[in-house]
Amino acid sequence: MVKTAILVSGGGTNLQAIIDANLFGEIKNCDLTAVISSSPDAYALERAKYAGIPAYVVDRSVFPGRGSFTRAVLNKLQDIDIDLVVYAGFNFILDPPIIKAYQNKIINIHPSLIPSFCGPGYYGLRVHEAVLAHGVKVTGATAHFASEIADDGPIILQKAVPILEDDTPSTLQRRVMEEAEWEILPRAISLFCEGRLEIDGRIVHIKEAGDV
Ligand code: GRF
Repeated sequence: MVKTAILVSGGGTNLQAIIDANLFGEIKNCDLTAVISSSPDAYALERAKYAGIPAYVVDRSVFPGRGSFTRAVLNKLQDIDIDLVVYAGFNFILDPPIIKAYQNKIINIHPSLIPSFCGPGYYGLRVHEAVLAHGVKVTGATAHFASEIADDGPIILQKAVPILEDDTPSTLQRRVMEEAEWEILPRAISLFCEGRLEIDGRIVHIKEAGDV
């Protein structure tokens, strides 16, 4: 079983989607070993407690900088011997040491169709505000491996979501989560844990279940 840690910062709806998918057997060969929150007030911690998953807080606000915060998160991950890290509504970019320690073993979910509307400053509602302001007709979500550049790592799965005439940033955010994020993130985790992902530079190939 792949020992997996889910990193969160807020409400945790993506965490809930992972917990439910795991409960229904939709995620193979995955052990939800821990939830790590960057905030003691994250509602995601309640979801972890309710699901019986050990939860830890590495409180971003008590660390002087990104370097010390990154080290603290990395120490926690290595303390509990984690194999796979998932950024599920985790609102912080961490420093290179964690990318080196978990090369192609960190999966992030971003609420747009990368390479559009991503990178520094594009998180939460801001993404959907920019999408609507630009007048695009389709958006969606992307599950990808984290790299040293925000939202730039090899793409595992994407799902498109149409933009409706009367969409607001909030209605769009909700629909992107419901129709894309909550579906592709659990699936990306399962593909990783089944050993069905093959990375060739920027390209992620998905192998047939029978070929692993
Ligand atoms: C989601 O759109 C996620 O992609 C973004 O923050 C939103 C809330 O995520 N990073 P969650 O409900 O905390 O999982």
